[in-house]
Amino acid sequence: MKITMIVFAILVSCISVRADESDYQSNISKTPPMGWNSWNRFKREISAEVIRDIADGAARYRLNEVGYKYLVIDDCWQAPDLGSDGELVADPEKFPNGIAPLVEYVQERGFELGIYACPNKLTCAGFPGSLGYEETHAQQFADWGCMFLKYDFCPTRSGEIGLEYDEVVRRYRVMSDALHDQDPNIVYAICEKGHAGLINRRSREHAGITTPITIEERLDAYAWCTDVHGVMWRTTGDISAKWDKIMSIVDEQEGLAELSGPNSFNDPDMLEVGNGNLSEAENRAHFSLWCMLSAPLILGNDLREIPQEVLTVITHEELIALDQDLMCRQAEKVLDEGDIEYFVKPLANGDFAVCVLNRTEQSQEVVIDWNELGLDRDAYAVRDLWARTELGSINGQFTRTIESHDVFVARIRETK
Ligand code: GAL
Repeated sequence: MKITMIVFAILVSCISVRADESDYQSNISKTPPMGWNSWNRFKREISAEVIRDIADGAARYRLNEVGYKYLVIDDCWQAPDLGSDGELVADPEKFPNGIAPLVEYVQERGFELGIYACPNKLTCAGFPGSLGYEETHAQQFADWGCMFLKYDFCPTRSGEIGLEYDEVVRRYRVMSDALHDQDPNIVYAICEKGHAGLINRRSREHAGITTPITIEERLDAYAWCTDVHGVMWRTTGDISAKWDKIMSIVDEQEGLAELSGPNSFNDPDMLEVGNGNLSEAENRAHFSLWCMLSAPLILGNDLREIPQEVLTVITHEELIALDQDLMCRQAEKVLDEGDIEYFVKPLANGDFAVCVLNRTEQSQEVVIDWNELGLDRDAYAVRDLWARTELGSINGQFTRTIESHDVFVARIRETK
């Protein structure tokens, strides 16, 4: 299909998303949510002090000025038991004054607080879940002033592997309705990882399915997420700060572009930029790919001290502009030459973003050819985003050298 036809189809689908928008979605982020989450870096080691220090760091590095908004407390913030009325209780040692004062603290620094819960009896780390107490918990989150809820399906802990599709969806709808009754502006982040649609490895094994997962199965597995007003939904298992893991997650996004649009985003999991031993090139490639995918940009690194080379990546406005583009269209892989992959993302003003990924262990000379990428003009004006350089109008094709595990990302514009 010619790229112009694809763009036309995308425009039409975006218009229909807008026309169907319910009041759930009219006010919350149209573009992918941006923020930070405690899990990747801190796991269980969270506390009010950590969250305050993170908020201080986020403010000091002015992360709100480039769009980061939600600071999300993940699992392990809870006390081991529910309170006498079924309410969630914050761990009194980690959060001696509860959650509400933290909301105020982060708001004073220009951010919003987010929180984590589960539609099961237990969370993934074994703390109390929200099953049966959805209204109570939604009211607590809203009363505290939390503006983001990560709602994480954890069947294993609760002995619920193999739960019926309808029941999983019902549980997500119950919390969605409860949240909406409290405050329709709370971002509802679904983290269900394909259990209902039987594409999750554990659920698939449980159901005795041994065939490889197809793209249709993947699409079906997440199709219900917008129906229950999820703004984003996890499309993979957990990320880690390892190049191979990041690459396998990128592979899992194939074919999902049609689910992505304003207010609805595939979520390939939180960023690991700045964590583990990822190299500068790997951090750059990871961040670029998430921006190309219109993924939620949820940082996972330690914001108390951010090395300059990490800060340069996570605050790159021109990359963030691709992620936050109003068309909200996930890039598609248009050409695959083994370990050199080419992604194209159409943008709202008619430009395109092009990303070439070098997955090999050596630097590679690559040819970027408009025709091969499905772009139908002879010439485009090219801006190299990482080099922050205009490369001028390029006719037909050009070559670039890309280091191992690195990317070339360009914003291109039709020339008259
Ligand atoms: C996992 C989830 C992680 C993190 C963890 C907490 O299910 O995918 O992102 O939230 O639970 O226990």
